[in-house]
Amino acid sequence: MATKKSIKVGPLKQSELEEANRIVRLAFGTFLRLPNPSDFLDDRNFLTPRWRSPNVKVIAARDGGRLIGSNVVTRWGSFGFFGPLTVLPEYWDHGVAKRLLEATMAIFDRWGVRHTGLYTFAHSARHVGLYQKFGYWPQYLTAIMTRTPEATSALVARPPNAPPDMPTLLSTLTRNQREQAIQACTKLTKRIHKGLDLAAEIRAVLANHTGDIVLTYKRGVLDAFAVCMNGVGSEGGAKICYVKFGAARNGSGAGERFDNLLNACEAFASSRGAAVEAGVNLAREDAYRRMRSHGYRTSMQGVSMQRPHATGFNRPDAYVIDDWR
Ligand SMILES: CC(C)(COP(=O)(O)OP(=O)(O)OC[C@H]1O[C@@H](n2cnc3c(N)ncnc32)[C@H](O)[C@@H]1OP(=O)(O)O)[C@@H](O)C(=O)NCCC(=O)NCCS
Repeated sequence: MATKKSIKVGPLKQSELEEANRIVRLAFGTFLRLPNPSDFLDDRNFLTPRWRSPNVKVIAARDGGRLIGSNVVTRWGSFGFFGPLTVLPEYWDHGVAKRLLEATMAIFDRWGVRHTGLYTFAHSARHVGLYQKFGYWPQYLTAIMTRTPEATSALVARPPNAPPDMPTLLSTLTRNQREQAIQACTKLTKRIHKGLDLAAEIRAVLANHTGDIVLTYKRGVLDAFAVCMNGVGSEGGAKICYVKFGAARNGSGAGERFDNLLNACEAFASSRGAAVEAGVNLAREDAYRRMRSHGYRTSMQGVSMQRPHATGFNRPDAYVIDDWR
């Protein structure tokens, strides 16, 4: 078995993606005691599209050249998070995750990102203890919620003479309009949390063809947006519209803007024949309650851990969807 010295950590190679995906499924499936561990995540892929995204670094742990684990490190402007972190079960408890986490912290340092977080199993002393070693502190629960929308009018493209307040998809806009919309998304998130910026994530979704960005407006001003992953090979897979991130402009009326965003996401999911999956931290109390009122039910819950132990954008006045998986 590996010794600390024989384990090396470095960037994950393209040729290792398939094996890394296999380890992700096997590790989680084993931990969760699934009858067939490889079934974990079904047709969803949390690794390959992220590996292709410029705002993400995927690192690998190897023992004598054999891939034995990986971690995915994501940057949203001033905020970073990591996961899925996985180690081949036969290598558990040999310090492999700790090696991957040392390399992860070095990436955050290189990026100059000082505020970072993660999502993990709330019931697992082992997981919480591992991350505490690296300065993370457990906070509020994050609920991963799902809802299968009724068939509604599909949200596809805004017709040329449509009213300016009609929700739309980023992919249907002209190049100039897209740039303006991405800048408006950045402005919106920076008003919620200093430096929070999804621009790179948004561009990656369009470039990778792994979903679309739902945009809602009021009198021509961006009210809210959601990064929705769906389709074969994406983080949502064919059956799920995974809202990886969503946010409504803060200030007076934010709750209603958030409701409208949920409606627009459901219309998009419905047009794709998919169910919506969206995570919300329970510190965002009104956002969570509004999701419950919309008919969302929690399918899984975990705990968010942050470094430093601060609120960040897990606050009652933040109308944000995300889960940091
Ligand atoms: C979770 C996982 C990545 C850990 O990998 P690993 O290589 O076995 O972890 P390591 O051996 O590096 O970590 C050991 C550390 O865990 C922590 N730990 C383990 N058991 C613990 C306990 N009962 N209480 C507190 N901390 C504990 C300690 O910090 C320990 O370090 P120490 O021995 O120096 O104190 C691995 O088990 C895995 O792939 N699980 C399935 C997928 C998963 O759950 N991923 C994480 C999702 S957030």
